Amino acid sequence: MSSNCKKKVFVTRRIPQPGLDMLQERYEVVINPHNRVLNKDELIDGIRAADGLLCLLTDEITAEIMDVNPNLKVISNYAVGYNNIDVAAATQRGIMVTNTPGVLTDATADLTWALLMAVSRRVVEGDALTRAGRFMGWDPMLLLGSDISGKTLGIIGMGRIGQAVARRAVGFDMKILYYDKAPVPEAEKYKAEFVSLDELLQEADFVTLHAPLTDETRHIISRRELQLMKRTAYLINTARGPLVDEKALVEALQEGIIAGAGLDVYEYEPRLTDGLAGLPNTVLLPHLGSATLETRTKMATMAAGNLIAALEGKRPPNLVNPEVLQD
Ligand code: GLV
Ligand code: GLV
Repeated sequence: MSSNCKKKVFVTRRIPQPGLDMLQERYEVVINPHNRVLNKDELIDGIRAADGLLCLLTDEITAEIMDVNPNLKVISNYAVGYNNIDVAAATQRGIMVTNTPGVLTDATADLTWALLMAVSRRVVEGDALTRAGRFMGWDPMLLLGSDISGKTLGIIGMGRIGQAVARRAVGFDMKILYYDKAPVPEAEKYKAEFVSLDELLQEADFVTLHAPLTDETRHIISRRELQLMKRTAYLINTARGPLVDEKALVEALQEGIIAGAGLDVYEYEPRLTDGLAGLPNTVLLPHLGSATLETRTKMATMAAGNLIAALEGKRPPNLVNPEVLQD
């Protein structure tokens, strides 16, 4: 096949090489040359000639953007969450949408625990104090945090990641409550109890979010929900920022309505709501849930595999809009 009949693929940001190798062996691949998110015009320019798009959760793929290229066959998202893509618009246009589930479950659950432990045991404050030369010797009252073992964990969204968080909680002898649209059979393995959202908020010492961002879950945690939580409780979010009304969260943290928060994602990412960065009772990470070399490499080959399957006329393994293949 001569190179001028190779299919064209646009990749919106450099990802680990093994995924790019799979694409470059087969297609003419254009990769965003900058180490930053593309603006809308750059995104449109890249998509204009592409048969396949590999994009990130930071790229908003709207109907308007899809309409610049009627030949676009597939949008392969390099993420498990795909709220950045108008899936209904893609389906209407016959475009397949894929994601990367499963491979980032453990990494994200691990980071959830890193945040939970860091905020409740004041790891970041302690590190700062030590580096600043303010460690004056063992002190009976220094940086007292909160127990984890034996406490109650409340999991909102008992999908793959929520279950992986529960699996880890068993080792901490925690009582586990969860809330989801319906009971999840696998939850029984962790003796996790299905409860209403309000009951979970009232009982849990740690509330952790693992739901996708949809119209129903946006602001699932707002002022009312924060007020239902214990004053000693912590909120952890490694899912999507807009699940939380961040202004209400900042106020709750300032007023002592809850004890603290561990956040990996933000409502207006990468911007933080005013006041958040000044709060000592928070640990704030820059969206690192899946950020290990092993996991990001698996995501890259999975995203490339999905894109290749679609361009070869096969059903991609991780198709999120299977209705696109009907009729
Ligand atoms: C990361 O946030 C993802 O959805 O993969
Ligand atoms: C994502 O992988 C989830 O189902 O939690």
